[in-house]
Amino acid sequence: MMIPQEKIDEIRERADIVQIVSEYLPLKKSGRNHIGLCPFHSEKTPSFTVNDEKQIFYCFGCGTGGNAFTFLMKQENLSFPEAVRSIAKRLGIDMPLDTKPSNEENQREIMFLANHVAMDFYHQNLLTSPAAENAQMYLKKRGLKPEIIKDFKIGYAPAGRDGLAKFLRNKGISLELAEKVGLVSTKDKDSYDRFRNRIMFPIMDTRARVIGFGGRSLGSEEPKYLNSPTSPLFKKGDVAYGMYQAKNVASKEGFVLVVEGYFDLLMLHQYGFVNTVATLGTALTINHLRKLKGYTKEIYTLFDSDEAGKAAAIKSLPLFLEEDIHGKVVLIPAGLDPDDLLQKEGAPKMAHYIQKAKPLMDFFLNSLKAKLNIETLHDKVAFLEEAAPYIANIKNIVERDIYIEKIANVLHIGPDIVLSTVRAAKIPLYSKEAEGLKDQQRHHIPTANEILNKVDFSKTEEKILKVLLAYPSLYNDSISRTVEIFNTDFLKEAGRLIIDVLQKGSGKIELSSLIDAAHDEKAKTWLVKNSIHDDVSIKEEPKKILEDCCKKVIMESRLKKETSLLLKKFTDAEKAGDMESFKVLTESYLSKKRG
Ligand code: CTP
Ligand code: MN
Repeated sequence: MMIPQEKIDEIRERADIVQIVSEYLPLKKSGRNHIGLCPFHSEKTPSFTVNDEKQIFYCFGCGTGGNAFTFLMKQENLSFPEAVRSIAKRLGIDMPLDTKPSNEENQREIMFLANHVAMDFYHQNLLTSPAAENAQMYLKKRGLKPEIIKDFKIGYAPAGRDGLAKFLRNKGISLELAEKVGLVSTKDKDSYDRFRNRIMFPIMDTRARVIGFGGRSLGSEEPKYLNSPTSPLFKKGDVAYGMYQAKNVASKEGFVLVVEGYFDLLMLHQYGFVNTVATLGTALTINHLRKLKGYTKEIYTLFDSDEAGKAAAIKSLPLFLEEDIHGKVVLIPAGLDPDDLLQKEGAPKMAHYIQKAKPLMDFFLNSLKAKLNIETLHDKVAFLEEAAPYIANIKNIVERDIYIEKIANVLHIGPDIVLSTVRAAKIPLYSKEAEGLKDQQRHHIPTANEILNKVDFSKTEEKILKVLLAYPSLYNDSISRTVEIFNTDFLKEAGRLIIDVLQKGSGKIELSSLIDAAHDEKAKTWLVKNSIHDDVSIKEEPKKILEDCCKKVIMESRLKKETSLLLKKFTDAEKAGDMESFKVLTESYLSKKRG
């Protein structure tokens, strides 16, 4: 059963977002709002804004926003019902006794439980089963100490076909859910284990809940590592292995080391470098960085020193720039991974390499320089052009200046030339859409169709919604028809939500509950942002603005229809390489839009 809506409403009404946020970060009063340093991205001046009256928060730096529930969901990694319960508990509100978790919530809990039971099963099996002797020997040979095996709850999956499946069944755990998290597979009602005869590494989230596993074969069987499949609890690029064990020390040390492998991570912990996490064979992702940023200011990559490792470090540079976080590269002798290095040369040597870590940007520039012959004019230009977009994406202007100066020195040219190249190269290096794309797809030049499809109809639509939020009494039924022809999906969704509330007739918009009703992330963020931020331009004549904008939307919708006809002509001209008609058509389109 779900938490009854009245309960949720009661909790929402009584929750105090300022107080809840203050448990996590210091807030200062500033006008009608409270402000502080955003916990969801790193910043030096506060743009994280909490509004007491509306009970919402919004960060003008990273665009995260919501109400008290959303804050806890993000901050503590909770599901919605978990966040509701957590606030209820703070407020001392009794949850009704018959409030069982909803089906979905229940299932999540059972999936976590299944993983936890499996972790204990594998771990106990390793420690006590005579059949685990080979596994014990393997771990010993690899140099792992018993304490690390205990700290990380490392285990052994028995070789039989359904040892875990039987164990789970005896514990009354749904095998259907165990299958969802990839512990077992079921065929014709017969369940067998996914992991067999493997060393098992449980992967935990920052709250020590088991979200998945990695399993290494003992010998040379392939695959060397078998991981849990993507599941409702586990997505590979989202978590770093060892985060739970590393997080506190990472924030004390001020930096975190990122390695690639399970054994690298375990060995670093064993040798006292506890501020280490592992990416588990995937490239470093923006989600990794965002999670780590919550704990530390600097991130050092400690990858293998082969070409692949170096390329991986450079490839992550756009992500570091995007998140405005300092990256450094630890270079170790070629041919060794961090695990080998520690066992061969010990902790002091490793500490030495860490201490000599180079800023990722310098590392990138140096390898670029090594690739080229910058004494020639041709390669000077090539260097500049390749480096410029990276420099342009440095968020801190002082740092950007320093690199412009550095490049000028390296190339023996004037800094003004570097500066103008950098200015011209200001395109975002990182984009959500591009992550995961192949390199050649990344530099995709948009077609006319794509450009025209991007033409922004949203400004007028936004104005309408802003007026409605600020002056709900101006609402009438014709506006709801206008919202239905909105061109921008998330604004249509936001508009529908506002209108829904207005039609119910309280004449007042309860923003905090509106947020819970919004399923579209973008609609939600828009609503929060625009309620916390007053648009002064609508203050003068809201009624007239509303009417004008509605008219404009109707016109634009007509224009859009005509445009799609034009578009076809565009495509044809473009395909035929007829740039002259292409230009004429563009002009005609734009003038139409302006008129
Ligand atoms: N990996 C994986 N699946 C594979 C191979 C590798 O998930 N088939 C991941 C593992 O997390 C592994 C990391 O990529 O730890 C690095 O791979 P690799 O360098 O090949 O292995 P090592 O970590 O050195 O593993 P080992 O020392 O056990 O040989
Ligand atoms: Mn290795």
